[in-house]
Amino acid sequence: MKVLILGSGGREHALAWAVKRSPRVTEVICAPGNGGMAHLARCLPVDLKDLNGIIRLVEAERPGLTIVGPELPLSLGIVDELQTRGFRVFGPTRAAARLESSKGFAKQFMKRHNIPTGNYAVCSAADDLAAAVDHFTAPIVVKADGLAAGKGVIICPSRHTAVEAAQGLFSGSLLGSKEQQVIIEEFLEGDEISFLCLTDGTHVAPLVPAQDHKRVGEGDLGPNTGGMGVYTTGGMLEPSMTEWILRHIAAPTVRGMAEEGTPFSGVLYCGLMMTAKGPQLLEYNARFGDPETQAILLRLESDIVDALEACIDGTLADTNLRWSQGASACVIASSAGYPGSYNMGFAISGLGAACQVPGVQVFHSGTSRVGNQVVTSGGRVLGVTAVGETLEQALCRAYQALAQIHFDGIYYRRDIGHRALKKKP
Ligand code: AMP
Ligand code: GLY
Repeated sequence: MKVLILGSGGREHALAWAVKRSPRVTEVICAPGNGGMAHLARCLPVDLKDLNGIIRLVEAERPGLTIVGPELPLSLGIVDELQTRGFRVFGPTRAAARLESSKGFAKQFMKRHNIPTGNYAVCSAADDLAAAVDHFTAPIVVKADGLAAGKGVIICPSRHTAVEAAQGLFSGSLLGSKEQQVIIEEFLEGDEISFLCLTDGTHVAPLVPAQDHKRVGEGDLGPNTGGMGVYTTGGMLEPSMTEWILRHIAAPTVRGMAEEGTPFSGVLYCGLMMTAKGPQLLEYNARFGDPETQAILLRLESDIVDALEACIDGTLADTNLRWSQGASACVIASSAGYPGSYNMGFAISGLGAACQVPGVQVFHSGTSRVGNQVVTSGGRVLGVTAVGETLEQALCRAYQALAQIHFDGIYYRRDIGHRALKKKP
């Protein structure tokens, strides 16, 4: 089978790596792909905002399976378009992807289905913002309704700054585009867990849970990013807690979407805050996480193509996901300045030596190829990922591999996994 993966990040590199391991797969195509995928996949140019361009590519290549990586083409309805034309595609329809593409819709859905989440108000520009914000105590979270590539969440120290942030979202001064709706939210405290599940619209199969590190700086300081590193390890969630999350969060979501006539199939990513009152849902994503996927797929022992096809065919209940024991970690090497402005085009060296470290895979995100040279071309450049018998071993291997890699302005956090390591006796 020929498999097409849409996207260009580390998530898509990891998907290509996992798909290529399936004995059923003869060829992997990645569109547009990146500078590190040449040995795994044929990369073809495409603009992910241009549905007609994607459709032309799929009609020309006729893959047996298309996997959609990022949220943007999902929110534009690429799955609906390809399904209508008879292609097999993994991911939610446009209506189902609203769980991610409208935070207001997602919050109202959570309330309709009694899914535990913080208090919130959905406001439009005409509403009295000061009155809305008065119901909350500082700090107050203000969010853009639409997709914002991780930049749409502002944690405000006071009611006054919350009103200002909401005004900035409406006027377009904060994100560039003018938001029609803004969500005001209760600030929740605790450990964050990325709880990803596969679903065929009825059955839910959890992947191993992961913990991301959103802030750019060590000690979880500084601005939010797309994610600076992730780990997975046994014991992150007790089996009874996993059951609780499935029963109170993931399963009611899938059931609720089906009841509302917009069944969700694909990856349901529940962003959880483990508060003193129990898990609360911060947000949904309608896709694989990045860099969660890099760390998660390194531990998947079953055939990913079988699992993704089961989501399309409605046979997930008959599919068993097998995972390796132990742990995994992915540390992001980024360009100096990220998530603010940064320079690109710097040569990357040491990739070969890094891949020699046992248990390590280097997944590329913001890289491209100039002749034979791999150069930086984005903020998050590489996801250096390793498995280990223990989290310590996985982290040690990832950092050992990172020590081999050089490019101008390379930056990475040296404290990935600090929460889990601190909890150990
Ligand atoms: P989101 O895009 O909704 O995942 O938000 C990005 C990040 O902002 C989350 O991963 C959290 O770290 C933080 N965040 C979002 N909502 C809240 C909240 N209600 N309370 C505390 N932190 C939040
Ligand atoms: N790592 C967070 C995300 O994929 O949204």
